[in-house]
Amino acid sequence: MSKAIRMSRTGGPEVMEYVDVDVGPPGPGEATVQHAAIGLNFIDVYFRTGLYPQPLPNGLGMEGAGTVEAVGEGVTHVKVGDRVAYAGRPNGAYAQVRNLPASLLVVLPEKIAFDTAAAMMLQGMTAQYLLHRTAHLKPGDTILWHAAAGGVGLIACQWAKVLGVNLIGTVGSEEKAALAIEHGAAHVINYRRENFVDKVRELTGGEGVSVAYDSIGQDTFYGSLDCLAPLGLMVSFGNASGPVPAFAPSELQSRGSLFLTRPTMMHYTAKREDLEATARSLFGVVASGEVKIAIHQRYHLPDVAQAHIDLESRKTTGSSILVPR
Ligand SMILES: NC(=O)c1ccc[n+]([C@@H]2O[C@H](COP(=O)([O-])OP(=O)(O)OC[C@H]3O[C@@H](n4cnc5c(N)ncnc54)[C@H](OP(=O)(O)O)[C@@H]3O)[C@@H](O)[C@H]2O)c1
Repeated sequence: MSKAIRMSRTGGPEVMEYVDVDVGPPGPGEATVQHAAIGLNFIDVYFRTGLYPQPLPNGLGMEGAGTVEAVGEGVTHVKVGDRVAYAGRPNGAYAQVRNLPASLLVVLPEKIAFDTAAAMMLQGMTAQYLLHRTAHLKPGDTILWHAAAGGVGLIACQWAKVLGVNLIGTVGSEEKAALAIEHGAAHVINYRRENFVDKVRELTGGEGVSVAYDSIGQDTFYGSLDCLAPLGLMVSFGNASGPVPAFAPSELQSRGSLFLTRPTMMHYTAKREDLEATARSLFGVVASGEVKIAIHQRYHLPDVAQAHIDLESRKTTGSSILVPR
């Protein structure tokens, strides 16, 4: 028997129940992983509330790090005792032990601790593909990045600086502004106090940015479009304030023949070679110290409801992990 979070209905943090589960042996193509640490991500909130549907009852959580305890038939790239980490579906990472498709697992370099791995696989691989593959950035480019002091945000601030890209970050408090600057943002705007569109125009001499990375959704979508230079790229990659309502393509034309993409890490890492290349790139910048993973919140797994409350109420900064016990 092991402990895990299960939900049988969607709703508030109270729908997450800490229960006994019988994990059983791994099926063909699966591995059993004993978690040392589990990642907390905003997407977990979307699944909990039902914004992103899934069959119920179900588990929650898409990211973890730990040790392989058993492998099922046909699994060759990991073995019992390997230190591994992963990010991706199916949900079920909020658990002491779980079975999952072994194809998601990457072996961790010795230099990367379990806590760091659990905190960075989803947020770090997201920053990686958004900065390296979704847009073709060059040194000297200026980009807009919302929620710059969050989990994905603090990684993006550092990585953009490594690439020589000027990141204008938005944040919800002065404390978060200081954090984003400390992590490499070129400029920071407190969008609770200032109009971020006006400020971006001012900071770019009226030109606008070449790429706007928007994970806030509903509250910022049109403002982000207004920050773009002609032919700029809008990357809508999340909905922390709610989903973006339907809109007319002419909104892109009238603002300067803009491009729009709505990417997810799941597609960018769906092929094994892409997953390995993305993870390798992340491991490289973390092992070299160019990108530091800021674990600012730790919760015991049974306290996951508090973790969700803090994340949704914008209390967290950087990354958060859940520690199984
Ligand atoms: N598409 C993908 O591949 C992908 C992958 C990973 C993450 N994401 C998305 O990236 C975003 C960041 O994820 P994360 O896990 O690193 O979370 P996070 O940034 O640590 O937390 C979300 C942040 O969003 C900001 N925010 C603005 N309006 C909000 C609202 N109404 N409610 C709650 N938060 C609000 C808050 O920062 P301020 O107080 O500074 O505004 C909050 O701290 C999420 O939208 C997530 O879904 C997308």
